[in-house]
Amino acid sequence: MTASLGNLAGKVALITGASSGIGAATAVLFSKLGATLALTGRKQDNLDRVGNLCSENSKTKPLLLQADLVIEDDAKKVVESTVQHFGKLHILVNCAGILELGNIENTSLEQYDRMFNINVRAIYHLTMLAVPHIVQTKGNIFPNVLAYNMSKSAVDHPGVTVTELQKRGGLDEEAYAKFLERTKETHALGRAGQPEEVARAIAFLASDDASFITGASLPVDGGRHAMCPR
Ligand SMILES: NC(=O)c1ccc[n+]([C@@H]2O[C@H](COP(=O)([O-])OP(=O)(O)OC[C@H]3O[C@@H](n4cnc5c(N)ncnc54)[C@H](OP(=O)(O)O)[C@@H]3O)[C@@H](O)[C@H]2O)c1
Repeated sequence: MTASLGNLAGKVALITGASSGIGAATAVLFSKLGATLALTGRKQDNLDRVGNLCSENSKTKPLLLQADLVIEDDAKKVVESTVQHFGKLHILVNCAGILELGNIENTSLEQYDRMFNINVRAIYHLTMLAVPHIVQTKGNIFPNVLAYNMSKSAVDHPGVTVTELQKRGGLDEEAYAKFLERTKETHALGRAGQPEEVARAIAFLASDDASFITGASLPVDGGRHAMCPR
């Protein structure tokens, strides 16, 4: 399957959230497709594990950068170190993110700030830092973000992918199993996605095979967006 997918040989890709879930699956797939990788996450052990998996597929060792992207200096160091180490940057994949449970009645502003700081502000910041380098290489950024569009799309609801996200956000095993059971009704394809399925869409968009696609939002959500809200 991967042999026919977009070739990323010679491309330098910076992947955030590479220590888990979708970011980790994207890192492994990108390494198979020939990309040179800078990987970031907070948990060094997990980052090392993903780095080792990528090394099995590639001659160039991934650059592993432990960083909390909410900290502005960490974000700066991630971009600077990548460009210093590899001399260029073609692709930025923004996968770092968190989920915390709650509705309007019981979600505190502290929780709101925590989620927006990593899920929105850090993406904006990192993209801003990476853009001058990506412009030079005529590369790619995911997602395509501008402050207005980001604020407007903040009420969009994405599909579900099976990762650590929801469990880390507070769902225990039983609740998570129920949540996944429910995805059979809320997703047109009748199931949640696997991180490798999201990684394949990211790899396609990052490759020259998507050379006439820009500024597009591609739902990779098992048809969740096409279902009635429920
Ligand atoms: N899974 C889904 O159903 C789903 C659906 C739609 C969108 N998404 C989005 O997809 C992205 C990846 O999520 P996932 O499902 O793969 O979740 P995950 O398995 O929990 O992975 C989240 C990743 O983000 C990193 N991260 C979180 N906060 C960070 C911070 N402050 N600084 C640096 N890195 C940070 C984590 O690093 P450490 O583990 O090292 O701390 C981890 O690598 C997220 O943006 C999520 O919102 C997921």
